[in-house]
Amino acid sequence: MAFDWHRPLESDSLRLTLWTALAIAIGGIVLLIPPFFMQGTAEPLPGMRPYSALEQEGRDLYLSEGCSTCHSQQIRPLKSETDRYGGYSLAGESVYDRPFLFGSRRTGPDLARVGGKYPDSWHWIHFDDPRRIEPRSNMPDFAFMARRPLDLSLTSRRLEVLKFLGHPYSELEIENAVADAEAQMAAVAASIRKDGLTLDETAARSETIALIAYLQRLGKMTEER
Ligand code: HEC
Repeated sequence: MAFDWHRPLESDSLRLTLWTALAIAIGGIVLLIPPFFMQGTAEPLPGMRPYSALEQEGRDLYLSEGCSTCHSQQIRPLKSETDRYGGYSLAGESVYDRPFLFGSRRTGPDLARVGGKYPDSWHWIHFDDPRRIEPRSNMPDFAFMARRPLDLSLTSRRLEVLKFLGHPYSELEIENAVADAEAQMAAVAASIRKDGLTLDETAARSETIALIAYLQRLGKMTEER
């Protein structure tokens, strides 16, 4: 008898479904609507620039190769995380990440601040075969990317679309996207060769180079390239 008050709610399955849907909708609205009006979460950090043409290409490869299924890019404000990975992630660091790559699994370590942690040559060897760096690693090798020339045919267009979506690229940056990417690619290849590795012409203009340029930017969004 004491619990009879909820009988009208539960006795009719259609009514119960409607009430449940309403409860979920209210919860969803309360959670989802306010962030649209909280512009503070979409403000870039001071001094932040969007990804360069090459870094943007590298980012797209990171996405298409599924790196985010094993690597997160968000450091939570917990001591164990900040001790291991560095300062916790800020909303303003991800404003040029479209879509964001926070990830939800950490088979491998978090990469939000991996930029500058290792030289370019380290990454080159690690992508060729992670076991050469860490014998127990279960990261797949990405040696094939070093033999795939980076496709720059859509680079300008890519920046153009991002500009349309609000990323502050100048007309000049869009126009010079390919030349910019070529120049940064040459710089990355030179830094790998400086460490004594041999790269043939395909390798020096490969997808791996773009991926390395991108990784070296993570956690360094406010620094000059
Ligand atoms: C199957 C899971 C898996 C996938 C997929 C994967 N990784 Fe990893 N990654 C790992 C593991 C495990 C480690 C730690 C051992 C090592 O260094 O190899 C690691 C380490 C790394 C490190 C070194 C991090 C540090 O702080 O030492 C980088 C950089 C990295 N991965 C980048 C990538 C990129 C870029 C991709 C996609 C092209 C990728 N990984 C795909 C599992 C993965």
